[in-house]
Amino acid sequence: MDQKHLGHKDTVNLGSYYTPSWLVDLVYSLIAKNVPGFENYTVLDTSCGYGGFLRGAKTIGADIDGKALEIARQNAPQGIYFNHNSLFEIARSQYKLDKKEKVIVVGNPPYNDTTSIIRHNIKKAEFLRDADVVSRDIGLSFLRSYHKLAADFVCVLHPLSYLIKKANFDALGQFKNNYQLIDSVVVSSGVFSATSQATAFPIIIALYERNSLGMDYAYIQQYHFKTNDDKLFSIKEFDTIGNYIAKYPNHKTVRDEETAAYFYTMRDINALKRAATFLEKETANAVRVTKTNLPYYCYVDVFKDYIPHIPYYLGNSDIMINNDAFRELEPLFVSLSARKHPQLGSAIGTKQYPDEEAKVTGYFKRLLGAHYVEDVSQKPGVFSGW
Ligand SMILES: C[S@@+](CC[C@H](N)C(=O)[O-])C[C@H]1O[C@@H](n2cnc3c(N)ncnc32)[C@H](O)[C@@H]1O
Repeated sequence: MDQKHLGHKDTVNLGSYYTPSWLVDLVYSLIAKNVPGFENYTVLDTSCGYGGFLRGAKTIGADIDGKALEIARQNAPQGIYFNHNSLFEIARSQYKLDKKEKVIVVGNPPYNDTTSIIRHNIKKAEFLRDADVVSRDIGLSFLRSYHKLAADFVCVLHPLSYLIKKANFDALGQFKNNYQLIDSVVVSSGVFSATSQATAFPIIIALYERNSLGMDYAYIQQYHFKTNDDKLFSIKEFDTIGNYIAKYPNHKTVRDEETAAYFYTMRDINALKRAATFLEKETANAVRVTKTNLPYYCYVDVFKDYIPHIPYYLGNSDIMINNDAFRELEPLFVSLSARKHPQLGSAIGTKQYPDEEAKVTGYFKRLLGAHYVEDVSQKPGVFSGW
C-alpha cells in the first residue's frame, strides 16, 4: 500500500516512501532460497510503516509513526507492534525478544542524508540515537542497529552506495565485521513511485548472514552484483579516474603558477551528471588542473556527455577509464573539450579530427562493454528520497 497519511515534509523527514509488494516478494524469495527453516524465525521490521514486509507465523513491527502503526494493526491484527524510535536504546528487550530467539530483520529502513532533511520540522525525540549507531546517514544507523539486535539474518533494501562507497562502508562499523552479504538483487530507485526529477540510483535488496567472517572492502570490490534484469557487474572490473588525477580541492599541493585550469570537485557519476566541469575561476570546490594532467580532466568533461549511455546501476560508481585506449585518442578528447570551454585557450588544440564522434563513441562502447546503454530514449524512472 502506498503511504498516504503524511504531508510532504513528514514524508521527507521520516523517509516514508513505502515499498511496492513485488519488491517485498523479492525479499522473501531471497530468504526462502538461502535460509533453511526460515518459517521458524521471528520476522522483525523496525521501520515497518503499514507493515507491508511482515509475513510469517510470528511478526514484530515497530515505527516512530503512530498513525502508520494503526494501519499496520488493522492490516495484520495478529502481529506485535511497538511505537518507538528504533535507533534509541536499541536492544532485544525492546521487542521482548529473548537471547536465543532466531530473528530475521526485514524491511526498507529510511534513507535520509543530511541535505534531504527538512530540519526545522523534526522533533528532538525523533532525532535521538544511541551513540554507537550515530552516522551521517540514518540508513547506515539502521544497519548498525541490526547488529545490536544480533539478528541472525538481515534482508533489507538500501542504497547500493552504502556498500560500494568506501567511506559509507567504513561507517557500517560492527555491522560489516559481523555480517556477510550472501545474496542480493540490484534494482533502480525509479521503481519507487515518488515523482521528482532526480536521477535514478541503484538500490540493493541485500541478504546478510550473521557470521564471524564479516566483510572487508575487498569482499565488496570482488562481489558480483546482479540486477533484476540479469545484468552482472562488480566494481573491480573498471579502472577509475581517481588513479590518475585529483578529484577534490588540491590547492595545498598544486601551486598557483602551475595551475592551467579549474575543475569542479568530482564525486560519483550521478553527481557529475548534475555538476559543472571546467570553472572560469577558483572556488571552494575547485580542483587545480595542471598542464600535464589537463587531458584527463578533458576526458571527464567528455565522459559527462556520455552519461546517458551508463546504466543506473553504475550511477554511484567512480568515473571509469580505460587508460590505454584513452591515451590513443587523447588529442581528440582534448580538442572536443576545448571547443566547449573557450577559457581553456586555443593553445591546447581545437582541431576537428576525422570521425571524432564515431571514435569517441567506440571508446565508450569498449569501456562499458555489455553495460553500454544503446537506447537512451527510454529514461529510467525517477525518485527523490526514500
Ligand atoms: C521507507 S519507509 C518503510 C516502510 C515500510 N517498511 C515499507 O517499506 O513499506 C521507512 C519507515 O521508517 C520509519 N522511521 C523513520 N525513522 C524511524 C525511527 N527512528 N524509528 C522507527 N521508525 C522510523 C518511518 O516512519 C517510515 O514508516
